[in-house]
Amino acid sequence: MRQLIIAGNWKMHKNIQEALEFLQELRGKLDSTPVEAVVCPPFTALAPVAEALKGSNIALGAQNMHWEKQGAYTGEVSPLMLREIGCKYVILGHSERRQYFGETDESVNKKVKAALEHGLVPIICVGETLDQREAGITEQVVATQTTGALEGLTPGQVAGLVIAYEPVWAIGTGKTASEKDAQQVNRYIRKVIADQYGAAAAEAVRIQYGGSVKPGNARALMSQPDIDGALVGGASLQVDDFVGIIENSL
Ligand code: G3H
Repeated sequence: MRQLIIAGNWKMHKNIQEALEFLQELRGKLDSTPVEAVVCPPFTALAPVAEALKGSNIALGAQNMHWEKQGAYTGEVSPLMLREIGCKYVILGHSERRQYFGETDESVNKKVKAALEHGLVPIICVGETLDQREAGITEQVVATQTTGALEGLTPGQVAGLVIAYEPVWAIGTGKTASEKDAQQVNRYIRKVIADQYGAAAAEAVRIQYGGSVKPGNARALMSQPDIDGALVGGASLQVDDFVGIIENSL
């Protein structure tokens, strides 16, 4: 059985005080949940959030990183720095990074390998744009992104990953993929992984859905057999919505 993982991607929201107030309210509400809850604040709030999460069952994730351990890379943050702060997860290849910051399957692959090498669990984002969906090439796009991100990994490494299927047209738009469509793509991603890394890795890898997930649609999405959680943007910024999504996922 794959444990559900619901991760909140705060994107470029919340200063330190807002982050701490959020966590103070969140802690205690998730004490007995069997769902793995993750919060991914901006870099500036990672250290204080790590401190505030001590002793809780909520995990910490970052939203991006560089693939090198250290060096002359102005403005970048390394996997070692994320580990030092207490991150367990790191989101890699989010469509906003692909769209605005030139992230490619090749750079995502380097980051995935570096994250694994340093003990971080990557949450790898894949997903088609509206044009690509309308052109009927959704499967081709997610297959290319998935195989590109995973190139060179062992089946054992793939088994421990989290992949987030996020149709770009559903992100922050209020439009959610129907549970049937999301299930179909998640199943397809699992098949792509099975073909390349074997059935055991494909059965173990957790595949989230992301794109306008809310308390009201969480149950229908999470009850699909190949949807193992959610990567939540907007609705992860309010405690009640985030908790509602987690509670409704069961
Ligand atoms: O990383 C999260 C996704 O981009 C989804 O964002 O829930 O605001 O649509 P959203």
